[in-house]
Amino acid sequence: MIDKTEIERIKQVIVEKLSSIHTLKRVQKINQLVDEIAGQEERETESLSSEEQVVTPWVVSGKIDHDKVIEKFGCKRIDESLIDRVERLTSRRAHVFLRRGFFYAHRDLDKILDCYESGKKFYLYTGRGPSSESLHLGHLIPFLFTKYLQEAFKVPVVIQITDDEKKIWKKLEKEETKRLGRENVKDIIACGFDASNTFIFSSYATVGGKFYENVVEIADCITVNKANSTFGFTGEVSTAKMIFPSLQAAPSFSSSFPHKLFPDEKKNIPCLIPCAIDQDPYFRLTRDVAPRLDFIKPALIESKFFPALRGNNGKMSASDANSAIYINDSAADIKKKINSAVTGGRDNLEDQKKYGANLKEDIPFQYLSFFLEDDAELEHIKKEYGEGRMTTGDVKKRLVQVVTEIVERHRMARAAVTDEMVDAFMTPRPLFE
Ligand code: TYM
Repeated sequence: MIDKTEIERIKQVIVEKLSSIHTLKRVQKINQLVDEIAGQEERETESLSSEEQVVTPWVVSGKIDHDKVIEKFGCKRIDESLIDRVERLTSRRAHVFLRRGFFYAHRDLDKILDCYESGKKFYLYTGRGPSSESLHLGHLIPFLFTKYLQEAFKVPVVIQITDDEKKIWKKLEKEETKRLGRENVKDIIACGFDASNTFIFSSYATVGGKFYENVVEIADCITVNKANSTFGFTGEVSTAKMIFPSLQAAPSFSSSFPHKLFPDEKKNIPCLIPCAIDQDPYFRLTRDVAPRLDFIKPALIESKFFPALRGNNGKMSASDANSAIYINDSAADIKKKINSAVTGGRDNLEDQKKYGANLKEDIPFQYLSFFLEDDAELEHIKKEYGEGRMTTGDVKKRLVQVVTEIVERHRMARAAVTDEMVDAFMTPRPLFE
């Protein structure tokens, strides 16, 4: 059986060895080929063993059992009482992603709610590693959710664009990661963040001063053994990969922002991080380190993966264009991609009527569960499709409408984002509640 982490490690070693003898462009091409080969191997492995799951910040593969991921990582499940409490405190209905269980795991969310209830501040921190021109639907999940949290709790948001991460991990050219980062920022702004209360920053452009001081403090608390056991690093990884987790950790501590992000308090404001569960290892480590530096452990609210078009193995990923619907895809592409998605519908109409669809394996139905806001309609489709009175074609057709509408709305919002707006969001400044 092929170990996915091992494949990833071998890919890195090959690329690192080649970097010294080839031009960057050539290395990028070789990297792409290695990715393709590894992608093929991954798919072969998935069909060999669909049960094996790997979840790291860099590789998500195999049949994902989200309950097992929580168990392995040691986070807590979000239960109904916690959702009720969020609704009560914010005086509004919980976001679809929360009430339908997509944001399903947490660390210390209860403490953040205690803090909010007692009238104290907290801030939200999330991020993006710019590896593609456009976000895909999976990336939209944490950003739309963070925007909801910002509105509901009326709190500041900081968003890290880890252009450095994608240079280190994807071997993209430095200038290219910066360019992709700026393109991604436009997509993020188009999600509707409050301009007066959101700071978006690129690692390359921002890290310095107090932020860098914290990076060094954090890195000094992490032994090579700890990094190896948390991330599966081996002796071949570069020291840049070793230092990067401290860069993603630093924004979890409010003192990393020296330019009075929070006007009346300078340090130790609690932080809540919305992300998918693949980012948990970074923040497990951050939480380990926090008490040693007299910082508050960041809290997390973590989602399941938005699945790939080809089925429930792995996640929708920018590294695999065939797995993803990008939010700059044309209406025709969206239709083509949705029509090619793996479904749980039966082979012929007769069987479909007799047995109904297997909704657990049906990607179009799962996408609808994320994005179709109308609870009653979703319940209707679940019943009719699951019991065979609706066909896969009907469900795909409805999904094409829903996704095209979201993408079209996003396209319009993004077209209204000017360079001046990007600069304003990315200017260090105090944020106000
Ligand atoms: P990145 O760019 O891989 O992903 C950005 C955000 O999207 C989430 N995500 C998904 N969520 C649901 N379904 C999917 N298929 C899916 N794919 C990606 C990720 O969990 C992430 O929240 N290292 C980070 C960038 C980062 C960051 C952070 C993320 C820096 N600081 C703080 C979260 C919180 C990265 O490369 O994310």
